[in-house]
Amino acid sequence: MIKTVAPIRALEGVVIPPGDKSISHRAAILGGISKGRTRVSNFSPGADCHSTVDCLKKMQVPIQDTADASGPGLLIEGVGLEGLTESHDILDAGNSGTTMRLLSGLLAGQSFLSILTGDDSLRYRPMARIIQPLRLMGATVWGRGGDTFAPLAIRGGSLKGIDYKLSVASAQVKSSIMLAALFARGQTTVHQPALSRDHTEQMLAAQGVSIKTEGLTVTLTPPTGPLPAQDIAVPGDLSSAAFWLVAGAAHPQARLQVKNCGLNPTRSGAITVLQNMGAKLTISNQRMEGTELVGDISVESSSLQGTEISGEIIPTLIDELPILAVAAVVARGKTVIRDAAELRVKESDRISGTVKGLAGLGVRIEELPDGMIIHGGGRFAGGECDSHKDHRMAMALGVAAILGQGETAIHNAQVVDISYPGFWQELERVSRP
Ligand code: S3P
Repeated sequence: MIKTVAPIRALEGVVIPPGDKSISHRAAILGGISKGRTRVSNFSPGADCHSTVDCLKKMQVPIQDTADASGPGLLIEGVGLEGLTESHDILDAGNSGTTMRLLSGLLAGQSFLSILTGDDSLRYRPMARIIQPLRLMGATVWGRGGDTFAPLAIRGGSLKGIDYKLSVASAQVKSSIMLAALFARGQTTVHQPALSRDHTEQMLAAQGVSIKTEGLTVTLTPPTGPLPAQDIAVPGDLSSAAFWLVAGAAHPQARLQVKNCGLNPTRSGAITVLQNMGAKLTISNQRMEGTELVGDISVESSSLQGTEISGEIIPTLIDELPILAVAAVVARGKTVIRDAAELRVKESDRISGTVKGLAGLGVRIEELPDGMIIHGGGRFAGGECDSHKDHRMAMALGVAAILGQGETAIHNAQVVDISYPGFWQELERVSRP
């Protein structure tokens, strides 16, 4: 689908972002292996989380979609830690790295055979980073291309705990190891190079699993009994909210409120960066919902200035970098993004995609091996661009388009459904042409 977006005069309204994608994956998986019934409210409507649900269903976890007027939801009849059944078919993670990497950890603890595959993007994303630790724990894992890529074949069981140093600050890898560690003999310790999102740690701890975090080190002691089922209220996705925060701050006639948004500090680096850039953001109604900090965020037109985004903050805003690059275009001065080479192995190469996409809309931007330099103070001219079938790229280009001087045609715009079905309709709803 080609989406043509015209510049808009003003932006105004209240937005409720969809349920958090990262937390929804974990809610489905942990609910599936708990003992008893888990109700998940505000489950992400995105295709990625449905890939996780479909894989769990193939392993005979009863999951019912309970979406109604009050919002999307799931009812999971947990089968317990030992209750998964070998799938008759290949497990398809679709476009979802989280599905593939987290389920691989879970499957490393099962004595049956599993084959996992994904779409054209996911089959070229790095999997050695999970194959290596899961093998050290004792699982048999193979991957295509010399144990580099999916499809993956996993025969698990009889695991032992490991002491493991992560080479990348990846919550997916950390979580994969921790899910396998639930089934291992002895403790597992993971050392992170920088702090990545901690939803898995928080959610497991809430179920009574012994998790100790000291600085960058996480230690899990396997539970001696079942995980008790617990209802989960998923907060709104800050990574989805980020598109509104940037649209509101960057557009000269804007006032938006984003309600019920997750604010977990291991996820909220984009808020810090936008505030450093001068964005007028006001956070109110902060509260804990289950394990997560949640609040409402108001944003209005702001005079932004360029900044440097590098170092330890990167994992806390990794998915928000394409949209922060859009903010940098309208900011005064230069913005430098570094230490973000991981962006090259996301759903698409988001360094090359952002640089080519924004350059095509008339922006002065330079590519770096691990980031980019954006020369601010400019405007988007409009023109043609492509999401390269990457949901976050499509939405970042959509926000660039409303800030443009002319119309922008975004190719492969339908992929927003991966994390934010209805994004284009929401954009129209809050736009004042
Ligand atoms: C995620 C972790 C991040 C992020 C992805 C979701 C998660 O990936 O980019 O969208 O849910 O754990 P990495 O852990 O590979 O950085």
